[in-house]
Amino acid sequence: MSNAAATAANEHSQPELQVDLSKLEAILARHRDHKGALIPVLQETQEAYGYVPRSTVPLIARALGVPVSKIYGVMTFYAQFHLEPRGRNVIRVCQGTACHVRGGAAILEEVSEQLHIQPGQTTPDLRFTLERVACLGACGLAPAMMVNDTTYGRLTKKKIKEVLAKYE
Ligand code: FES
Repeated sequence: MSNAAATAANEHSQPELQVDLSKLEAILARHRDHKGALIPVLQETQEAYGYVPRSTVPLIARALGVPVSKIYGVMTFYAQFHLEPRGRNVIRVCQGTACHVRGGAAILEEVSEQLHIQPGQTTPDLRFTLERVACLGACGLAPAMMVNDTTYGRLTKKKIKEVLAKYE
């Protein structure tokens, strides 16, 4: 690993990941001192790493001349930005009304139990990220969930196991 490599500071209990900051340096070189470039820089950083590592935030702040607090504020406002690593497969379990009345809560609980993570978390092997959503637009298939771009409906505990096995 180069001198540019650093360990990501992490306020949470997830294991620390090595972050190769050379990718960030290339991004910042294109936008240095452009305060208005914050969102493009965050987008490019997330594209490069799959998320915005916490260790990159002070470096972005210094390069663009914006406060660290502003960067965290922007990231909180725009749901597209993630401060934690994301899984290769994102599971969205519907908790909308149609799914709720057909046992959506139990489906979420089951997925959570099978993966040993809570909604909003990612498995330590970065295979899955689990999220709850309000409606997937597939109410006729309730209870439903999506894995990446694929919708799975009329879910049961058994079916969840089969679906997850496809992504093992
Ligand atoms: S409420 Fe679940 S898909 Fe619409």
